[in-house]
Amino acid sequence: MRAFQTLYIYLTLALAAISVANASLVDDILDAIKNAATCATCHALFVPLKALAVLGDKPFTKTFVAVCKAAKVVDNDVCDGAVGMQAPIIAHDLRHINPLGQTATKLCNALLGLCQAPDVNTYKVPFPKAAPTTVTPVVAGRNPPFQVVHFSDVHIDREYTVGADAACTKPVCCRKYADQAGKPVQTPAKPNGMRNCDTPPSLTQNLLNSIGANNKFSIFTGDIVEAAVWLVTQDEVTKDIDLFTQEMTSIPQVKVYPALGNHESAPTNAFTRNTTTKTNMQWVFDAVSKGWQPSIGASAAQQAAKLSGSYALKVPNSNLKIISLNTVYWYKSNFWLYDSDNQQPDPNGIIEFAVRELQAAEDAGERVWIIGHMPPNRGDTLHDQSNYFDQVVNRYKATIAGQFYGHSHQDQFAISYSDYKKRVAENAVSVAWVAPAITPRSNNPGYKIYDVDPDTYEIMDAKIYRADIDAPNFHTTPKWDLTYSARALYSPMVTPAHPATTPLNPAFWHRVTEAFEKNQTAFDVYQGLRMGGGQGVNPIVCADDQCKTDTICDIRALSVDNSCSKTSPGLSFRRRADGIEVDGAEPGATGCESVGIGHVFHELVGKKDDIDFDELRAEIEAIVAEAEREAATQ
Ligand SMILES: *[C@@H]1O[C@H](CO)[C@@H](O)[C@H](O)[C@H]1NC(C)=O
Ligand SMILES: *[C@@H]1O[C@H](CO)[C@@H](O)[C@H](O)[C@H]1NC(C)=O
Repeated sequence: MRAFQTLYIYLTLALAAISVANASLVDDILDAIKNAATCATCHALFVPLKALAVLGDKPFTKTFVAVCKAAKVVDNDVCDGAVGMQAPIIAHDLRHINPLGQTATKLCNALLGLCQAPDVNTYKVPFPKAAPTTVTPVVAGRNPPFQVVHFSDVHIDREYTVGADAACTKPVCCRKYADQAGKPVQTPAKPNGMRNCDTPPSLTQNLLNSIGANNKFSIFTGDIVEAAVWLVTQDEVTKDIDLFTQEMTSIPQVKVYPALGNHESAPTNAFTRNTTTKTNMQWVFDAVSKGWQPSIGASAAQQAAKLSGSYALKVPNSNLKIISLNTVYWYKSNFWLYDSDNQQPDPNGIIEFAVRELQAAEDAGERVWIIGHMPPNRGDTLHDQSNYFDQVVNRYKATIAGQFYGHSHQDQFAISYSDYKKRVAENAVSVAWVAPAITPRSNNPGYKIYDVDPDTYEIMDAKIYRADIDAPNFHTTPKWDLTYSARALYSPMVTPAHPATTPLNPAFWHRVTEAFEKNQTAFDVYQGLRMGGGQGVNPIVCADDQCKTDTICDIRALSVDNSCSKTSPGLSFRRRADGIEVDGAEPGATGCESVGIGHVFHELVGKKDDIDFDELRAEIEAIVAEAEREAATQ
């Protein structure tokens, strides 16, 4: 009896101590949220958040769902889904890192936009051999080019519903959402795609039917799954990958070499590193391996399964090797990347794989195309990995004939240099071609057709095709019209004159940027083409000289540490004073990251004043008390 009483008193005291501690924990969390405005206060916020994470995933997640709803960043169901699915990853991170360390700084940068990315951690990518001193030049322009299609970001919505509302309060419309049942429809969705909505299957079917005829093959730079990311599940992602890869391979004359996008996962963007034992993403790699096998063959498919979705293959009857890289291990919004204070220069060995395949290609005298989802120069790329990959590009510049990406939903390009202190045509070593998106969500669907030199595999011309979703026949017979030819448009702008038989090489693109500097009209033409036009599409316009300088600076950097993009909270995109987005430099609602937890947290900082903190305190106290009760009964 005495022993029991003593134990009882101890337990009561212990529980009281916990409640007191947690009452102050709730205060600490709320104070830290109120104060979060700088990099230092962001680190300070992570201290109580780590304590909350130690209590468990559940109280951590519930707290942030409550915060999301209190700040009214997005609809409640989006808070439940987007925060609900990803908050456990953040809790896992915080439990494993020092809240004041560099990984925490990177997380503050990616999640809240309150810290700038830290300086690149010096790392020399190991290369098996030094670069050859003499390269026998193969000359382009001797034989007629062949054609290759580049399309990206299909974001097919299998729940696209004709007649559902295209004007909704969610990030993606044209679906039957539970909380919209019975509401009058303002803009009924038409069959082949609408603004604010992802792609109906009929549009990608039309795309596949129209690209087969005269093209040798196609490259697809990722993102199959729609962007209602607060609803995606492993089951849906697997089915989406399966269905689209079946559709891709069902047309005999269409041959597609794909790359893996950040949406090919559930939760979206979330790819564990192989050092994380909590869970793994093998199901994604198995799904793409199986789906891609008919296009890429058994041995490349085996590589994709083993190497996190990356593979390499030799295009039949050619001297061209394609290296398809999974770029999500370089992606800021992949929150699994922040679960250790140990630097991992090359998560899952993607860079090592690229080097191995490039070295083999160099030894065999082959040319290489790199294909991947994320252009490695965007503000949403981790600076370390972007820098290390650029070392690879520089080392193998004589072998790499082109790089191809998507993800930004914009028609863009970017240049790599051997010396970023001296960005001149002579130092330009590689060019990245970025394709617009197929999804009409934010612009007119578009793809590129390249004229490829059959001897060097360099690009002689890029022709951009768009479907105008406001055209009268779009919903019966969508038409992909030639918008412009890059050679016809840009070559008259450059000096010295660019010979007709010379490819659109890195030096050419550098000279195009010089034309942008000198000639405002030329720059405006480029900005106007990026989103592709159409009703309801904001053209990308620079209001001031700084914006123009930054835009050109971003083009002249394949390593993001040499670009001009900066991070800021509440602004997923840099904005002009009048609110028009000028660049998708940061993860945000309009680009590829979509409305995930990163968007919610970014916006949160600017919406703190809308929060009723008394109400929120009561909710969080209840959440923490429940977690305590559960802990006590275990
Ligand atoms: C993770 O992948 C890298 C690169 O392939 C490899 O070197 C490393 O051994 C792997 N680590 C684990 C724990 O599997
Ligand atoms: C500036 O660029 C535009 C568009 O390419 C072109 O029409 C115009 O002639 C250029 N102006 C000068 C002064 O080069």
